[in-house]
Amino acid sequence: MTFIEVDHLTKIYTPKGAGEVRALDGLDLAVPQGTIAALLGPNGAGKTTTVKVLTTLIRPDAGTAVIDGIDVLRHPERIRPIIGVSGQYAAVDENLTGFENLEMVGRLYHMGARASRQRAKELIDIFELTEAMNRPVKGFSGGMRRRIDLAGALVTRPTVLFLDEPTTGLDPHGRLGMWDIITNLVGEGTTVLLTTQYLEEADRLADSISVIDEGRVIALGTADELKASSGGQRVEINLVTADDREAAREVLTRYGSAQPTVSADGRSLTVGATDAPAALYGILGEFADRNIRLYDAGMRRPTLDEVFLRMTGHAASTTPPEEKPDELVARRDHDGAGHGPHPDEHHAKARPAESKQKRSA
Ligand SMILES: Nc1ncnc2c1ncn2[C@@H]1O[C@H](COP(=O)(O)OP(=O)(O)OP(=O)(O)O)[C@@H](O)[C@H]1O
Ligand SMILES: [Mg+2]
Repeated sequence: MTFIEVDHLTKIYTPKGAGEVRALDGLDLAVPQGTIAALLGPNGAGKTTTVKVLTTLIRPDAGTAVIDGIDVLRHPERIRPIIGVSGQYAAVDENLTGFENLEMVGRLYHMGARASRQRAKELIDIFELTEAMNRPVKGFSGGMRRRIDLAGALVTRPTVLFLDEPTTGLDPHGRLGMWDIITNLVGEGTTVLLTTQYLEEADRLADSISVIDEGRVIALGTADELKASSGGQRVEINLVTADDREAAREVLTRYGSAQPTVSADGRSLTVGATDAPAALYGILGEFADRNIRLYDAGMRRPTLDEVFLRMTGHAASTTPPEEKPDELVARRDHDGAGHGPHPDEHHAKARPAESKQKRSA
């Protein structure tokens, strides 16, 4: 059953002294019950605006949104009791302790004093915040704030949860912990819509991923489907020495389906290939003939970063450096800033519409 259904959502901001901003430009979503859907997009793509509309904080200019059969725009008062939201910036009272913050949420929702205290205790345990329970939030680290904020969103046991960038700013350990909590929630039947700039996070958590750019869904699918639609497998070779870079590039260009990308250090080259095994055999044969020394070579599926690059013509520029594959960094070096997308990527932009047609056919 489709639990969250969004059709052609449009939101236009007209800030004073500036032109209009189409924050949402015909955005569609369909999220089945008990699944995690990810909105994946760079800064300004429209992620927070979508969450704000669905959580009744703002009204769109056009389009419809339905959650659990309830029209969000007509009956916001019926939506509020069934949703939980953890915003992009943690909404907590600095002067209250972790425990008091959670208790207060229960009281605001008329849960009664005893039930509010009991639920606050449960959540403190689940989120491993025991040592922070009696400390004012103003002394919390960023990761603790995020956890207490998410715990606050769960006080009322919502059936649907909106998480706007739940792991931004968390360290790797904190991020793993948050991923576990989110996965467990869905195990209990909660439907989750989360936004993220982390391709790895969407890959790891989401049943379906909507890649959004400029207020619109430009690609939709599972992580595997998105990877498959991005030009087949990649052949990746690592050279012993960067001196062989140009010779290797020439060989890969002939066997690949697009221009190879080269890492900044010149030793790793990657190329897409429709028949990757055949391409790899051919490349290895020519390398042997020409004495190009290999450190290693192999095939792999494209990363979500590469998918994003092909779909939008620009990299998911907000991806933190540690998650950027070398070749994307290298690609930016080659293209330079502002030179526009690779011709191949213009072509790739037509793909989402194609695959949508296929899906509805
Ligand atoms: N209140 C507002 N007034 C004017 N423009 C706004 C307002 N809120 C958002 N926008 C604009 O709408 C667009 C989408 O913003 P939104 O916050 O939804 O993006 P986002 O995908 O959440 O980005 P980020 O990753 O930075 O959080 C941006 O261009 C933003 O500048
Ligand atoms: Mg945002």
